[in-house]
Amino acid sequence: MRFAPHLLDEIRARLPVSQVVARKVKLKRQGRELVGLSPFKTEKTPSFTVNDQKGFYHCFATGEHGDIFTFLMKTEGLPFPEAVEHLAGEAGVDLPKEAPRSPEAQAQIDIRERLYPLVDEAARYFEGCLRSGAGREALSYIERRGLSDETIQSFRLGYAPDGGNDLKQHLLKKGFTEREIVLSGMAIGGEDIRVPYDRFRNRVMFPIMDLKGRVIAFGGRALDPGHPAKYLNSNDTPLFHKGRILYNAHNARQAAFEIGTVIAVEGYMDVIALAQAGFGETVAPLGTALTEDQLALLWRMAPEPLLCFDGDTAGRKAAFRAVDTALPHLKPGSSLRFAFLPDGLDPDDVIRESGREGLAALLKKARPLADVLFEREWGDGEWSTPERRAGLELRLRQIVAGITDDVVRTHYERNMRDRLFHSWRAMGRETRPAGANGPASGTGGAAGAAARGAYASISQPFLKRPHGIGAGGKFGRPNGKPGVPPLPAFASESLKRSPMAAGHGSAFPAREALILQCLINHPYLIDEHAEDVAALKFSSRALTELRNCILSAHAEEKSLDTATLRSHLERLGLGDTLHRIGQLVIHRSDRFADPDAEADTVREGFEDILALQQGAARPTRPPVSGV
Ligand code: UTP
Ligand code: MN
Repeated sequence: MRFAPHLLDEIRARLPVSQVVARKVKLKRQGRELVGLSPFKTEKTPSFTVNDQKGFYHCFATGEHGDIFTFLMKTEGLPFPEAVEHLAGEAGVDLPKEAPRSPEAQAQIDIRERLYPLVDEAARYFEGCLRSGAGREALSYIERRGLSDETIQSFRLGYAPDGGNDLKQHLLKKGFTEREIVLSGMAIGGEDIRVPYDRFRNRVMFPIMDLKGRVIAFGGRALDPGHPAKYLNSNDTPLFHKGRILYNAHNARQAAFEIGTVIAVEGYMDVIALAQAGFGETVAPLGTALTEDQLALLWRMAPEPLLCFDGDTAGRKAAFRAVDTALPHLKPGSSLRFAFLPDGLDPDDVIRESGREGLAALLKKARPLADVLFEREWGDGEWSTPERRAGLELRLRQIVAGITDDVVRTHYERNMRDRLFHSWRAMGRETRPAGANGPASGTGGAAGAAARGAYASISQPFLKRPHGIGAGGKFGRPNGKPGVPPLPAFASESLKRSPMAAGHGSAFPAREALILQCLINHPYLIDEHAEDVAALKFSSRALTELRNCILSAHAEEKSLDTATLRSHLERLGLGDTLHRIGQLVIHRSDRFADPDAEADTVREGFEDILALQQGAARPTRPPVSGV
């Protein structure tokens, strides 16, 4: 049987060599390659290497070399057609039942072979136009958007002139037929269109490549701001199926392999801006919601692709849709993460406004799929009656039942139950009248506030994380710090806040408390004095832990503001310590620690007490009594 080359390519693209080989050979990563013991001879030291980018294996001991098909033929003794059928099944690629020998099928293959050079020629033509007089406006537009010459070249950006058939004329001159030009999508033609004309006119052109880097289609951005279609894509053609392709996948695959993650954004310009800023591992769907095929492609690049959405309603909706598309396909270890950008900004805007660092900080806040799912279902949080709660629980169960992997589903069931439990408990505390907390009424105010915090964080999904598994994932507690066992994620709030656990009645030395208070109120000090602060000795475990958590939060996210830092520390269970240092009586001479003090005053005062603390073990002020 003869297989169409594009089908073999498709299978190769979907199955990394390492995946096929791993069934026979235990592989270990070594740089860009994977190595293992040769399946072709008995050996003690590995001389068998696999390179997923290049799509082959090589055995230095025997000289054997090949791809996934030859691997199956050699190791399982299968004839080629059976190896292909076997792997096609695994890759989910449909093979035509009949050998594609029928004239039409053969013609299909032949036409594809004609269309590749055609669209490539079109790309080259558009590149040339961008550098010609006609493309002056387009080029200056692209440059105004901050793209470097190198970026323009590597993405092969171009310009489609306004004439109406410039490209068609060019391609005809190059020997392509009108029929081929229409088939490739470069011209619009058909029964009722006597003279086909160029699909793309007066647009900045973005060539779309397949996984091998061959041009297969285009996206074009209108230069005329009044044009009804800002972006226009090629129609589906023998080379191009919109829902199966991700823009920039061929480059991103390489980068993703190296750094272990891949980012999906919404637009062409976002991909390019990110790549230029150093995030080469970025792809985008082509103007539609992510399809299952595209998700599968993402998962082949990295176990937890990071999807990036606008923080507005449309962005959230798109994220929710992606959750639904992903759920049935979740596997142990493979999921999605979601980053939400500030309302109305796309990644390209963020990079322009706050650079690579700014975007990196937002990406770092990416949240797990389970978080996004729960918050979607939690909605406005009106779950005060047993019936409504039952309804929510049932709905979550139904959604989770859609997860096909048994292990993942079991974990989701538990995770969602835990989230419900903790969220409802937080609501319960919220509605309890203040001061009715029995023996703990001394801390009732704080507990009430904490409950409100927890409740608020759940009912405002995209601002804060709820308590529960996955919450606080971004900042861990500092690891390896002596004597501070991390609190379990679900350490009971009431326990954490109980007077006993809080060391009720004990006092913090005023200067130590003042230093920490000052860091929290003026987080830029953390940046300026991180080393000194890290070296300070505190007299209590609670303050040492608070200091450690402040430093590690800072280490993971520069430009922290007071509110974020506080709520983060509260989520780590340090609310009580915060509250106690907040009781500090600020002397007139210590006003620098106040939140609204001027930076110069702050720095001067802070450096003074820092020096005092470094120099003396003896407290200079009487201790402040506890709450
Ligand atoms: P956006 O409208 O967010 O565009 O569409 P953008 O990427 O920010 O574009 P600039 O920055 O104004 O140039 C996001 C993506 O949606 C698709 C395109 O793939 C685009 O990149 N889209 C958008 C269309 O297919 N057609 C349109 O009319 C608009
Ligand atoms: Mn944009």
